Amino acid sequence: MPGVLKTWPAWPEYTKQTEVYAQEPSFLRAKQEVIAQYGKDAICKSWLKTCQALESVTKELEENGASMIPTFDAEKVINDGFTPSEKDYIKSIGCFIVRQVIPEDEVREQYAKLQEYISANREQVKGWPVEAPSMLRLYDSPTQINIRTHPNHLNVQRKLNELWHDESGETSAEPLLYSDGIRDRPPQTPFMGLPPHIDAGSLSRWADKTYREAYHHIFSGSPELHDAYDLNARKNADQYLFPGVAHSRVFRAFQGWTALTPAAPRSGSILLFPHIQMAVAYVLLRPFFRPPESGDIMDASKWTFDADQPWFPGTFLQQSQLLSRSSHPHLRLEDCLVASPSMRPGDSVWWHSDMIHAVDTEHLGQENAAAVFIPACPTTPINKEYIKTQKEASLAGRPPPDYVFGAGSLNETLFKGYEGFERLSDEAKIALGF
Ligand SMILES: [Fe+2]
Repeated sequence: MPGVLKTWPAWPEYTKQTEVYAQEPSFLRAKQEVIAQYGKDAICKSWLKTCQALESVTKELEENGASMIPTFDAEKVINDGFTPSEKDYIKSIGCFIVRQVIPEDEVREQYAKLQEYISANREQVKGWPVEAPSMLRLYDSPTQINIRTHPNHLNVQRKLNELWHDESGETSAEPLLYSDGIRDRPPQTPFMGLPPHIDAGSLSRWADKTYREAYHHIFSGSPELHDAYDLNARKNADQYLFPGVAHSRVFRAFQGWTALTPAAPRSGSILLFPHIQMAVAYVLLRPFFRPPESGDIMDASKWTFDADQPWFPGTFLQQSQLLSRSSHPHLRLEDCLVASPSMRPGDSVWWHSDMIHAVDTEHLGQENAAAVFIPACPTTPINKEYIKTQKEASLAGRPPPDYVFGAGSLNETLFKGYEGFERLSDEAKIALGF
């Protein structure tokens, strides 16, 4: 099936508990708190249900691959939104493509402008990984600001935020603009830096009481009732309980990027696990179980409930939640992680904040794989507060608060070609917290 990753990259495997877990009491404490709150029986019940449900989920993904990822035209999304059946499908898959959010010609011009901006400020533009930077620490270039604040882009973000619900009256689907970086990756550049992972915190999903409330059905024996689009508790979850370079303070309804150049499988694009409900249930339940020493590891009933070990496989305080084939076998990552469909400049890819994803290790294409990272962020109290501090940082020439680690003395207001925010529309300024 095209798009299925058949040659597994040399990504890390999380096979053994290391001393890092024993040295940091937060791990065992989080585990004990979840067990005290929900009880062993409920957690075991969920484990068996989840592993069983994953059998059919992974079979479907293996059979259908990237064709599971739906594609929409931006104009239709903006004008008509999603039909009820499209909504149901998107919500279960959790990722999709929205084509031509901004017309291709306009985006090509913006990319040319970005290249000029980078070459005019070559000494100041830093990136990651250091040896061959492709993730650039640029947040307020004219290209990024123009694309983020494009009326079409804001309209699409609003439609995506509307897929979530919150009955408290404290939030709205009005988009707030989170400043993130840029990818500009030359052909033939291998990249191992982003193996399968889930963003929006790591141990905080278990350790923060409000965050774990967002998953209460998963811990209480009914993973099939988990509503991955319920913002009621999630809006107040602390994703930044353990500060780290990989964690965002803001809640992103969907992460996403908008292509500046063509994107294709095996060309520096993104790999996605197109399913949400049972995949996140499995990740959350996994630390409570130990695999059998011998026999069929895929038989979930042979796994032992483990209340005492502080090991959360693939969980590190300062990194995103990491996953691997051996630590999370029921996900069958090798069969189910698929490459996003091909994209043109101006197309965008979106994935749910709990979605497993990775960055292509290969780039076999002919030109740079470039994209602007732009998520859909609804208006919530935490997001509003962050956007305010982000705006103050931008105006003062500092990097966004989530990106101060490793940014050094970056001051984009001093860059040649910096344009700032004054010329923007009122709608854009509101979304930026002005
Ligand atoms: Fe990510």
